[in-house]
Amino acid sequence: MAKHTPRFVCSACGNATQKWAGRCEACGEWNTIAEEAPLSAGPGKKALGAAKGRRMGLSDLQSSEPPPPRIHTGVAELDRVLGGGLVPASATLVGGDPGIGKSTLLLQAAARFADAGLKVIYVSGEEATAQVRLRADRLGLSQSHVLLAAETNLRDILTTLEAEAPDLAIVDSVQTMWLDTVEAAPGSVSQVRAAAHELVSFAKRRGVAVVLVGHVTKEGQIAGPRVVEHMVDTVLYFEGERGHQFRILRSVKNRFGPADEIGVFEMTGAGLSEVANPSALFLSDRDAPAPGSVVFAGLEGTRPLLVEIQALVAPSSLSQPRRAVVGWDGGRLSMILAVLEARAGIGFQGLDVYLNIAGGVRIGEPAADLAVAAALLSAREDAALPRETVVFGEVSLSGALRPVAQTDTRLKEAVKLGFTAAIVPGGSKHTGNKDITVQTMADLPRFAGEVFGAG
Ligand code: TYD
Ligand code: MG
Repeated sequence: MAKHTPRFVCSACGNATQKWAGRCEACGEWNTIAEEAPLSAGPGKKALGAAKGRRMGLSDLQSSEPPPPRIHTGVAELDRVLGGGLVPASATLVGGDPGIGKSTLLLQAAARFADAGLKVIYVSGEEATAQVRLRADRLGLSQSHVLLAAETNLRDILTTLEAEAPDLAIVDSVQTMWLDTVEAAPGSVSQVRAAAHELVSFAKRRGVAVVLVGHVTKEGQIAGPRVVEHMVDTVLYFEGERGHQFRILRSVKNRFGPADEIGVFEMTGAGLSEVANPSALFLSDRDAPAPGSVVFAGLEGTRPLLVEIQALVAPSSLSQPRRAVVGWDGGRLSMILAVLEARAGIGFQGLDVYLNIAGGVRIGEPAADLAVAAALLSAREDAALPRETVVFGEVSLSGALRPVAQTDTRLKEAVKLGFTAAIVPGGSKHTGNKDITVQTMADLPRFAGEVFGAG
């Protein structure tokens, strides 16, 4: 018998080592390394050349077949994120924190598909069928013809799927599935990876659209589905703050459409409802101009989104003043504070700084830099921007402001929501719009001085 050397694999990046470590040396993530069972010796283990492989069928790059028809989910926000509907013979991963609403969303989508006459199988490894039915009842979907099963044994699931040949199969969640050929606990990296592999090959082989649900935990306790991301065609993340009712479905990878597209939902007592015009929702009631609050004209995928950025600056009693940020990158906040200090001479020493993106959205765009700087300045100087002004632009380390993509789209959305002024970086390309006054600024010091009289 071959000697068994242990193998440890990082669930975040897939790097394999021979020793366990608390931190992955390849990607730097903590607590992501777990022991992995060796591959059982199969035909794949034979030396190449000993047995000849099968000859592959080769085909031309140009295809005479039309592109596969997309299956519309009937949930417009979901269709948008998928790039126009589900593609048959594709695998989609829907990831997100536990309790964020993945099962709810997929059950609702499953019901819409079933109502459109498609054959849909929903396999739950987390809830009993009675529980799923109860939820369907609450969501008013119990009339829909979705075939349910509560099962975690992947062999049984695949046998059933092969026999039933559905149009769509939903497996909730990939962490609960296990294969009897893999010697590891359900939820371990090996099991998750093997289960995903089986389901993805089933999708391709039988032309079925397969949707996998994956839980993500910050601590990396369960094997993250990130190793699965490479295997599937489309990766969607369902995000939002638990306390907020808004949920954002974001495509982070899509082999069949644009990535970075978002769909916005609201969690209600009757499940998730679509939010067709999200900008209006992310802006709080803006009756009076408030210091520290600035409206950022952002862009998520192809979709403009106005969000309110709120800052609070207060004297600190701590030797190391607080820097707290929700919905934005903490490192980026430090950078903006440093640029304000070094280039405009506006310091935040001895001051606690809190930054919050209203509504529970997360912003990743550097285009928010200028709006964040504006919120910080506005809070520090206790001076509000005029109520109907939007701000966007990237701040470079030199303090210069850099134009960002799609100025026109952002301005148009601002006009649509009643804004009449915008402050943008010099050199921003736009066609001009009579409904909005566009003021350009070359750098951050000038912006601080002219808009807030600071510096
Ligand atoms: P769920 O879909 O079970 O989350 P996930 O599958 O991502 O773990 O959603 C769970 C949360 O959603 C739960 O806290 C209750 C809430 N919820 C509602 O607010 N309204 C509803 O109609 C439903 C079904 C769930
Ligand atoms: Mg669930």
